[in-house]
Amino acid sequence: MTVQKERFGIFFCPTVRATEEIATRLAPLLFAQDVILLQGNLGVGKTTFAQALIRACAVSSCTPKSPTFPCVLEYKVAQGRLLHCDFYRLRHADEVFSFNLEDVLERDILLVEWAERAPPDFFPQDHLVIQFGMRPAGRFLHISGSPAWKARIESLALPES
Ligand SMILES: Nc1ncnc2c1ncn2[C@@H]1O[C@H](COP(=O)(O)OP(=O)(O)O)[C@@H](O)[C@H]1O
Ligand SMILES: [Mg+2]
Repeated sequence: MTVQKERFGIFFCPTVRATEEIATRLAPLLFAQDVILLQGNLGVGKTTFAQALIRACAVSSCTPKSPTFPCVLEYKVAQGRLLHCDFYRLRHADEVFSFNLEDVLERDILLVEWAERAPPDFFPQDHLVIQFGMRPAGRFLHISGSPAWKARIESLALPES
């Protein structure tokens, strides 16, 4: 059965701090097995967002790196384990299977940049998508996902989209 994706709203983030603030607010709402896909071109703010989220839920203070190489970095977080992946450098979609993420999907939180480079249907249909857009005034974070995410995203107090 196909799960329909819903649009939950848009955040306008005029500064890095504003983007980090959304990530920090999302962090305590996450559970094990959550999948969050960060989409948008190079430099839109995906890693900035991911690092703030990781800092907010890591069990000990840490300075998250960008996982461009290697493609997967692992963190201990309040909910268990979080894997931060960046598939920008995948040479072909099937390379994603070399990371053995199937087990991770059943256990950990997965935060993925450039998920669109993985094979279609690699991720469970129940996931959150944050699509970043860049404008001179700042970044726009378009939030969408499976209906299961609706209540949690509403509690982020989204403005009208
Ligand atoms: N509102 C904003 N939100 C996020 N990043 C911003 C913002 N304004 C400027 N930036 C800058 O844009 C860059 C985003 O880089 P990064 O997070 O690595 O992007 P990506 O992972 O999408 O390639 C950083 O240098 C960051 O300081
Ligand atoms: Mg990045």
